[in-house]
Amino acid sequence: MMKKGRVFSGARPTGRQHLGNYLGAIRNYVALQDEYDCVYCVVDLHALTSLQETKALRVNTREMVLDWLAAGMDPEKSIIFVQSHVPQVTELHIILSMVTPMGWLTRLPTFKEKVRQQPDNVNYGLLGYAVLMAADITLYKADIVPVGEDQAPHLEFTREIVRRFNYHFGKVLVEPQIKLTEFPRVLGIDGVNKMSKTLNNHIEIASSPEEIRERVMRMVTDPQRRYRTDPGRPEVCNLFTLHGFFSPEQEKEIEAACRTAQIGCVECKAILAKNIAQAFAPFRERREALAAKPETVGDILADGAARARVIAEATLAEVKEAVALP
Ligand code: TRP
Repeated sequence: MMKKGRVFSGARPTGRQHLGNYLGAIRNYVALQDEYDCVYCVVDLHALTSLQETKALRVNTREMVLDWLAAGMDPEKSIIFVQSHVPQVTELHIILSMVTPMGWLTRLPTFKEKVRQQPDNVNYGLLGYAVLMAADITLYKADIVPVGEDQAPHLEFTREIVRRFNYHFGKVLVEPQIKLTEFPRVLGIDGVNKMSKTLNNHIEIASSPEEIRERVMRMVTDPQRRYRTDPGRPEVCNLFTLHGFFSPEQEKEIEAACRTAQIGCVECKAILAKNIAQAFAPFRERREALAAKPETVGDILADGAARARVIAEATLAEVKEAVALP
């Protein structure tokens, strides 16, 4: 079948993935594979911007890729690789940096946020974060980039860099389209913050049914529902958002029963925990099988890097020719 174009997306190696990662990114990556040529990248160089992470990079890469593969990201259909295994990206990064006005970088909301977060480590790489991301996307000539809303400024930045480069050197790079992944805000078990590993309010998709149950039981529900006999408000309850995904057939029933206090939060949580555990049962099985063969992930990533390198070398040759490097 003729594919509609190329998709590229990258994710920092954050280790075992949680429900937020799954609902917000992974399931979209999986779904795009049949219609597009997909290139999915573990952006380990981007992760270097906060140096605390480096000790865990290898384990985190492996754990994340195991989740990706078990969830259905398929190395037969897509290219799955590690950013630093294809070093051409760093060369393109330097070339693109020459058409990048400083002001564009310092104005990025993500950069300002990082400066607030790590004021004592505002390094050059952090400033160039968006340039490296533009290099990722353009090196693989991506038409479509599926990302969350927080990455929209980076995509707009990439488009502007492409226009500038092409204006100066001829039409070599492809201007990518953003594909915003629509999904409801998945809150953590605290019911307040976005689900995140750093906040330890997450539920890992590779958890055992017991671990899932333990975390779901700790989820914060409607704060106004203090007694079992109080009616609940599903519209403000994070539990209910997750029922929408994991209990589609029971959703209506649960909503009504919650509003009329026919079921309490404990019972509601038990249903959710069971359904999440069930939804990921085949996933857990595939993950275990993959993890049992220690060389599998390495082999898949090596093959992915070899295929990615073919595209990368071709683009970089064109870029160097256009810039007229001797
Ligand atoms: N900046 C992205 C993030 O923090 C990760 C990323 C790096 C990326 N390179 C990319 C995403 C290229 C899409 C395309 O989530």
